[in-house]
Amino acid sequence: MIIETLSTFPHMYDSVMGSSMMRIAQDKGLLDFCAYDLRDWTHDRHRTTDDDPYGGGAGLVMKCEPIFEAYQAITGIDVGLEVSETGNEQPLTGPAPKHADGRRPATVFLTPCGRRFDDAMALELSAKDRLLFICGHYEGIDERAYSLADYQVSLGDYVLTSGELASMVVIDAVVRKIDGVLGAEDGASDESFAKGLLEHPQYTRPSEFLGNRVPDVLLSGDHGAVAKWKREQSLKRTALLRPELLETVELSESDLKFLKSLTA
Ligand code: ADE
Repeated sequence: MIIETLSTFPHMYDSVMGSSMMRIAQDKGLLDFCAYDLRDWTHDRHRTTDDDPYGGGAGLVMKCEPIFEAYQAITGIDVGLEVSETGNEQPLTGPAPKHADGRRPATVFLTPCGRRFDDAMALELSAKDRLLFICGHYEGIDERAYSLADYQVSLGDYVLTSGELASMVVIDAVVRKIDGVLGAEDGASDESFAKGLLEHPQYTRPSEFLGNRVPDVLLSGDHGAVAKWKREQSLKRTALLRPELLETVELSESDLKFLKSLTA
């Protein structure tokens, strides 16, 4: 999968995308990641990407010209913008586009006004072969830029300063769903939300710590009993902490019987 980002603080990605699973995904050749600097598509001495809002109000608004110009350069798609023959007056400080082949990437804007991000959306995005994230920082984005969006995504009902940070959360959740990124033992299909339920509690050695013992069934070696315990613990935890999730999950007769026993 190709993932590209366009923002004013591209170096924010260095640590997250250069470590742990995100690094491994790239080393395995499963992810080609590139963070572009929006300022590379400005033409003034100050490399301006924002301006005062029309109609007044607090803060600045990200300008649409650099966003459209960058999009045209990154994708090779003609958005109808006249770019000067000399191109940028200043050399690129960030990476040069390497996939400007005219194919349209699934384009994602991070905004508190977007659709709430969840596991189903992570799965949907993980099936794309190319994603382009366009991120604001401090400020809103000129509404006309959203005409480039396939997805407008929100992490939740709060405002972050950094759209880069929001995109990193989405990228992490998406990349770990790409086949081959996680090893077989820690695959993404068995975890919280993948089955619509919260995950069961987990334990590792020692079997007793400060007087707290790991549930006996987990030490029993009885695979059937362990599977039953895990399912029931998932149901119990979900019923307690996120009961609304139970409305959307397919529940077996024995699931329903167990849930009933909790309230009896
Ligand atoms: N940018 C700022 N706040 C955000 C949020 N809650 N979700 C996604 N992007 C954002």
